[in-house]
Amino acid sequence: MKAAVIAGSPRAGSETAKVARHVAARWAALTGQAPFLLDLGRTALPPWRAPAGAPEEPWKSISATLHGADALVIVAPEWGGMAPGVLKNFFLLCERGELAHKPACLVGVSASAGGAYPLAELRMSSYKNTRICYIPEQIIVRNARRMLGAGRPLSGKDEALRARLDYALEILHAYASALRDVRASGRADPARYPYGM
Ligand SMILES: Cc1cc2nc3c(=O)[nH]c(=O)nc-3n(C[C@H](O)[C@H](O)[C@H](O)COP(=O)(O)O)c2cc1C
Repeated sequence: MKAAVIAGSPRAGSETAKVARHVAARWAALTGQAPFLLDLGRTALPPWRAPAGAPEEPWKSISATLHGADALVIVAPEWGGMAPGVLKNFFLLCERGELAHKPACLVGVSASAGGAYPLAELRMSSYKNTRICYIPEQIIVRNARRMLGAGRPLSGKDEALRARLDYALEILHAYASALRDVRASGRADPARYPYGM
């Protein structure tokens, strides 16, 4: 089962990227298959509707890889109570069915006690045209600097969060198996209804 993990911070070396690396390592350990990891702090995507003549790469290759994914993990930092613009742009770029009818687990990241707002925002606004299917399980990484680092857990809270993340990934894997059937059913008709209502 192939997965893609999206690190949605525009900063190189972000806490979000650290969390995404941990998620990718755990998915690989649990399923035996390393996921595709896209760090938006290291890979600059073109703006949606870039001017004519703009380079096709790297988006063309990323889009092809996403088409092959069965599950997604979206790691979203809380910036000003929002998901950053680079992550919203990513969803706008996914307009060719890259994410359609695929399960996704949301992971929020906050330096302090926040992290929930971007998840609520993405649940509300990012699925309509992409048809991404957010699963009920989600993870919020609070006090991110002290969580999910390389090596052993730093605290009981860190240990509990790691266990909860593993559980969410196992549930995501089950959804990934189930939603393959939905895509294979041929019921989706994006040519007829390209945009959600
Ligand atoms: C521009 C900016 C705005 C931020 N706004 C919030 C916020 O509203 N709530 C919050 O909990 N953390 C906020 N933070 C702190 C982030 O949660 C923190 O940087 C965390 O590590 C996730 O972002 P990162 O992956 O870019 O490091 C903000 C950080 C930046 C750079």
